[in-house]
Amino acid sequence: MRLATLVFAPLAHAFVIPFEWDVRWATNAVESVLGEKQTIWKMIKDDDKYTRIVRILEFEGSVKKELDKDALITFFAPNNEGLTPPKHRTEEVPSLSYVAQALDEEPWLLDDGGDDDDDKDKKRRRKILKRIAHAVLKYHILPDSHDAASLAQNSTMATTLHPHDGSADGLARRIHIGKELVPPGISINFYARVKSSAGASNGQVHELAHPLFPPASVFDEMFIASRWLSTSTSAIQRVGGAKYLEWGYDREKSKPGKPVFSGTPLTTFFAPSNQAWNCLPHRLHLFLFSQFGRHALRKLLMYHAVPHTLVHAELVHHAEHKKAEAELGSLNDPSFRHEFEVHSALGSPLKIVAEKKRVLPIEGAVVTSMTVNGVSVKVLDVVASNGAWHILDKVLCPPHKHKPHMADTDPWDDWEDWFLTWAEDARIQGW
Ligand SMILES: *[C@@H]1O[C@H](CO)[C@@H](O)[C@H](O)[C@H]1NC(C)=O
Repeated sequence: MRLATLVFAPLAHAFVIPFEWDVRWATNAVESVLGEKQTIWKMIKDDDKYTRIVRILEFEGSVKKELDKDALITFFAPNNEGLTPPKHRTEEVPSLSYVAQALDEEPWLLDDGGDDDDDKDKKRRRKILKRIAHAVLKYHILPDSHDAASLAQNSTMATTLHPHDGSADGLARRIHIGKELVPPGISINFYARVKSSAGASNGQVHELAHPLFPPASVFDEMFIASRWLSTSTSAIQRVGGAKYLEWGYDREKSKPGKPVFSGTPLTTFFAPSNQAWNCLPHRLHLFLFSQFGRHALRKLLMYHAVPHTLVHAELVHHAEHKKAEAELGSLNDPSFRHEFEVHSALGSPLKIVAEKKRVLPIEGAVVTSMTVNGVSVKVLDVVASNGAWHILDKVLCPPHKHKPHMADTDPWDDWEDWFLTWAEDARIQGW
């Protein structure tokens, strides 16, 4: 089988040899006229680099049928390298690597249904592992056919994995799609590079050097990114705010067969980076992180949270309204500029401007950006199980009256004139 190498041209590259794109589209068209393509399942089944994911699909049983149907889909296929377990046993997070490793170490898992196999524990283990494999595999499928250029149009996309834990207002789990110029390419969820892409009769296969992990909650993910966000995460913990950004299985409240999930099922958080906190006036920083500043710190953090709402550049969803509020852009011209207001956990408005611009008349050559109250988002659209988060390089400054001569300076400069009053003002709910 022939997998075309990934031909997502980097933007810089496209300036130099724009013809490559036309040639490629023409080739694709000819191929599909000949109609000799196989289904995704048949393609990967016969390919040496996919034996490990194929084994997981055979073990799981139902998802491989989806890969063999006519309905158009996109499948992210981790190659063997990506599914080769590390030497040391890793943590038991539900992932394809975990399933691959289990199948290596417990080969009896694969011979299913034998009558002599009445070991209850084995049956239970097989059932749990199949359930994990099913969920994680569904996260590797998109409900439509997207080649590399089509993926590159969007910042996030919905997968076929729907939550059963009451989170995200029932919306499908999403992937983040990142574009890199050097070296050129696409990365899914920041860590899984697309190594090659190929068309099948029922969609597209993208080879990944790393399996995808369904996202964790906003707080758990921020914690993983502590290197950049440790000030925000410890501030959130200090004011007892983690439960407003977390969502997960509640070990204490759950009973066998009756799992209970707790936390906050849907929220969006604009997370100031460590650098953002460091840019605050020194005395304000000292005050916020002192015992006297706790109340003010809590209120300031709440100003960065948008409860009950999913805010992505391309999709805004309010839990109460039960429908997507904004599906932006069109297929032919995906560019848009959308200004809207959401409400922070304090009830105060945050003004968001989301924008997608075409930088070249080529599919996928777009730049997506967002600002909140005029502050530009540094890292956009990180997907989470209970919403989304974004990284800011500035701490959002609540609205206040400037002294006239201060108009163009750092909005925090005169904080001593207003911030303490703001922080004391009005009782705050939650957090
Ligand atoms: C991609 O983004 C556009 C907005 O630019 C949106 O209309 C479309 O639904 C998105 N596609 C997918 C598959 O999410």
